[in-house]
Amino acid sequence: MSNPLHAKFYADQATQLSVEVVENVKMARDTFRVRFHCPELAARALPGQFVMLRLAGYDDPLIGRPLAVYDVIHSSIGEPDSIDVIYLVKGKLTTRLVKFQSGQRLDVWGPLGNGFEPIATKHLVMVAGGIGQTPFVCLAKEYLGLQRFGVPQREPARCDNVTLCYGGRSADLLAGVEDFKRIGVNVRIATDDGSLGHHGLVTDVLAQVLAESDEDCQVVCCGPEPMMEAVARVTGTANVPCRVSLETPMACGIGICFTCVAKVRDKSGEWDYKRTCVDGPVFDAELIEW
Ligand SMILES: Cc1cc2nc3c(=O)[nH]c(=O)nc-3n(C[C@H](O)[C@H](O)[C@H](O)COP(=O)(O)OP(=O)(O)OC[C@H]3O[C@@H](n4cnc5c(N)ncnc54)[C@H](O)[C@@H]3O)c2cc1C
Ligand code: FES
Repeated sequence: MSNPLHAKFYADQATQLSVEVVENVKMARDTFRVRFHCPELAARALPGQFVMLRLAGYDDPLIGRPLAVYDVIHSSIGEPDSIDVIYLVKGKLTTRLVKFQSGQRLDVWGPLGNGFEPIATKHLVMVAGGIGQTPFVCLAKEYLGLQRFGVPQREPARCDNVTLCYGGRSADLLAGVEDFKRIGVNVRIATDDGSLGHHGLVTDVLAQVLAESDEDCQVVCCGPEPMMEAVARVTGTANVPCRVSLETPMACGIGICFTCVAKVRDKSGEWDYKRTCVDGPVFDAELIEW
């Protein structure tokens, strides 16, 4: 009998490292980008994977926190060298991390999770809410043929057109918009208060982008769960494939504690709990029992 707890993305390939902070800079209101030097991890990280991060020398918080790999930075000789993570200041770890300066150390383990499989499409539509833009810079770079990832480097799926539909509460909370524009992503913004872009929900913008696009589209999505559920409804109605990257709270990040479970259906329609850390965080939206 097959083992019901088997997961495809156990952390067998992950490494735990003590890494040095290179820089820690403000990106937007309550939002920062920390860059740490970790050539080994940077070489292997795939778009949509995450790392677990702890503050070296602190007992509180004792356990790590999951953060998406935002970008893989190359050295002057073109080798993967550092990882960028963008974080919203929220609780114990992120409040302390803000005060970290270059030269201080973090404990990091990863890369973790399945990440986004490269699936061919003409138009990749990325939908982000809140801090959900963080898995998408690497993904856009890969689809646009600007950067390759993994060891050995994986075969990318290429497309000509990448759009980011990015929703936030207000303009001052949007982080990294220029990073996306610089690599050629078409950015469409929605804010709850109308301070930038469409005054309303990011799903309105998504529906518009899908209606305007006559190409074969594929949607990827990350953000608060109600927003991802709404995105899944829009893509379901439009009959467009959609993958979501879940942000369930995690304790271990490596499949042991079952803190991170989500209800996921199999092909027969039956649901079971899946661990977001080792079965995800990326799932087909139509398989999630919201
Ligand atoms: C795969 C994955 C990737 C992530 N990537 C990023 C990222 O790139 N940038 C980023 O800022 N955050 C990201 N997160 C969310 C981040 O891990 C949490 O917000 C984390 O709790 C912050 O740590 P903290 O110690 O500052 O806050 P904590 O002290 O842990 O928590 C603060 C509050 O948030 C609640 N909380 C904790 N985790 C979550 C969660 N996942 N969703 C909703 N509420 C939660 C707690 O119950 C508490 O009320 C990601 C989560 C996952 C699972
Ligand atoms: S976080 Fe422990 S099993 Fe997923």
